[in-house]
Amino acid sequence: MNLAPLLLLIVLAVLTVNCQNVPQERIVGGYAPVPHSIKYIVSIQTTNRQHFCGGFLINRFWVITAAHCNIGVTRMVIVAGDYSLAIYEGTEQEVYPHFLVPHPHYNSTSNSSDIMLIKLRAPIYLNSYVSIVLLPKQDSSIAEGTMCRVSGWGYTSPTGGQIPATLRTVTLPVVSTEKCNSTRSFNGSITDKMLCAGYNIGGKDACQGDSGGPLVCNGRVYGVVSWGRGCADAEFPGVYTAVSKFRRWIDNTIFSYYSRFCHRVVLMKQTQSSPLLNNLLNAEGTRAAHIPGWC
Ligand SMILES: *[C@@H]1O[C@H](CO)[C@@H](O)[C@H](O)[C@H]1NC(C)=O
Ligand SMILES: *[C@@H]1O[C@H](CO)[C@@H](O)[C@H](O)[C@H]1NC(C)=O
Ligand SMILES: *[C@@H]1O[C@H](CO)[C@@H](O)[C@H](O)[C@H]1NC(C)=O
Ligand SMILES: *[C@@H]1O[C@H](CO)[C@@H](O)[C@H](O)[C@H]1NC(C)=O
Repeated sequence: MNLAPLLLLIVLAVLTVNCQNVPQERIVGGYAPVPHSIKYIVSIQTTNRQHFCGGFLINRFWVITAAHCNIGVTRMVIVAGDYSLAIYEGTEQEVYPHFLVPHPHYNSTSNSSDIMLIKLRAPIYLNSYVSIVLLPKQDSSIAEGTMCRVSGWGYTSPTGGQIPATLRTVTLPVVSTEKCNSTRSFNGSITDKMLCAGYNIGGKDACQGDSGGPLVCNGRVYGVVSWGRGCADAEFPGVYTAVSKFRRWIDNTIFSYYSRFCHRVVLMKQTQSSPLLNNLLNAEGTRAAHIPGWC
C-alpha cells in the first residue's frame, strides 16, 4: 500500500498556511447575469465572510480554485448558491473545507500549475441554484477565438473602485499562446499549461477577487482565473490555468482519496455495477465523477 505519499500530501496541504498576500484578480467590462443562472460558481470567503477568491463545483464534495487562493484550510469557507454577497438570499450553502490539495508543482514565481482541489466537509446539495460544471478531457485544446465566459465577484474596474454587490460575468475570446507569449505581450512567461483570453484592445477581463473562478468555453471549464498584468489592459489578456492539462491530476487525486479511504465501499459498489470507476477514469469530456454521499 503506498498510502504514505497521499497522506503526506494531504497533511502538508492541511498544514499549509500561506501567509503571503493573496494576489487577487474581478470582472471588468461585464454585466450582472440573471440571478442564479451561473450555478457552478462558488465564493471562497474567510471565516469572517470576506470574499477573496472564486471557485467552481465539479461534484458535490469537490471544488476547484487557484493554488494562489490557498490561505489555509482553517481560514476558509466555501459558499455555493450565492448571487449578492451583501444580501442573504436563502439560496446560499456554506461548507467548510475538509482539506486542500494545491497542485504539487505550483510555483508562485512563474505562476505555473496554479490550481487547487478543495475537498468539502459535507456535500453540497444540487438544486435550481447550485450545479456542477463539466471538465474538458485531458489535453483537449480550445481554438483561438472561441468565446468563453468568466464570472466572479471581483473588482469592476482596473483601479479597484467599486466592489460589486452581485456576481458579474463577461465573455472573451481565447487568444493563441503564440500571441500571448510574444514580446508585445507576456514575453515568454506563458507555458503550455496556461490559457489566455481577452480582446486586443482590452476593456474586458477578470480582475482582483476573480482569482480561482471558472472560464467556461463550449460548456466546459477550460480555465481557472490565475494572473495577468493589471486588468483589461490592451495587449495583455487574462491568463488562466489550462484545466485540460490537469484533468488527469484532478481525476487521480479524487480517485486516490476514494480508493484509499473507501476501498471496500468502492469494491462493493463496483460489483453492483456502479459507474463510479468508469466515471472517474474514462470520463472523456463527460462530467467529473459524481461521488454519491456514502463515503
Ligand atoms: C519557480 O519558477 C522560477 C521562475 O521561473 C524558477 O526560477 C524557480 O526555479 C521555480 N521554482 C521551483 C521550485 O521550481
Ligand atoms: C505571476 O503573476 C503575477 C501577478 O499575480 C505577475 O505580476 C508576475 O509577473 C507573474 N510571473 C511571471 C513570471 O510572469
Ligand atoms: C523579453 O524577454 C527577453 C528575455 O527575457 C528580454 O531580453 C527582453 O528585453 C524582453 N522584451 C520586452 C519587450 O520586455
Ligand atoms: C513562451 O516563450 C518562452 C521564451 O521564448 C518559451 O521558452 C516557452 O516555451 C514559450 N511557451 C510556449 C507555450 O510555447
